[in-house]
Amino acid sequence: MRAVAIDGPAGAGKSTIARRTALEFGFIYVDTGALYRTVAYAVSKNNIETNDVEKIEKLLSEIKIELKFINGEQRVFLNDVDVSDEIRSPEVSMKASEVSSITQVRQYLFSLQKDIAKNNDVIMDGRDIGTVVLPNADVKIYLTATSQDRAKRRYDQLLSQGMSVDFDNLVKEIEQRDYSDMNREISPLRKADDAILVDTTGNTLEESISLLTEIIRTNLK
Ligand code: DC
Repeated sequence: MRAVAIDGPAGAGKSTIARRTALEFGFIYVDTGALYRTVAYAVSKNNIETNDVEKIEKLLSEIKIELKFINGEQRVFLNDVDVSDEIRSPEVSMKASEVSSITQVRQYLFSLQKDIAKNNDVIMDGRDIGTVVLPNADVKIYLTATSQDRAKRRYDQLLSQGMSVDFDNLVKEIEQRDYSDMNREISPLRKADDAILVDTTGNTLEESISLLTEIIRTNLK
């Protein structure tokens, strides 16, 4: 099986770019952030604080999280209910970042991610795919852009989904998430030594997609 790992900070366009690029290569696109978001969503639904590790650990033993690929599109299920849309709110984003620093949460999701890559050609995006989950990936890319640029994209995305948000708040949230994702003790966000750095600041989506497709084509043996 072949694997492309795409890591980088929130809002760098990873998911949109990776989804389109996966279509190009006939690979499955796996958005691992959705798994952390689903844990956060379950934690929140059960009125558990994100720092209550004991309760979260117990919750993990009681819930079932599954990724399904329906017409090539990833959907995430929590206890057999499709929660793919509910997990996209800014509140879930913040909580996802918080629960992602818990060792037990990362361990719980690790095998799920590994299993998918064992059985499929994948383009997998996240924070630690090239460093921890798929250290032997055929191609590793670290995708980034300035926080202003990333906040603008997230702003437009949320607006198009009918959610109204404050732009300056979004910049702050993005920077806060960068900080916690990069400074957590376990599997912090960082570029793998052998990852190709791609900065999409100022690029249109189409430019970034062409660029990544080209890089992957060149590096996929
Ligand atoms: O990519 P995203 O914004 O949907 O991810 C939500 C949070 O999940 C992010 O702030 C950090 C965490 N995450 C992670 O720690 N490791 C991954 N492989 C993917 C996401």
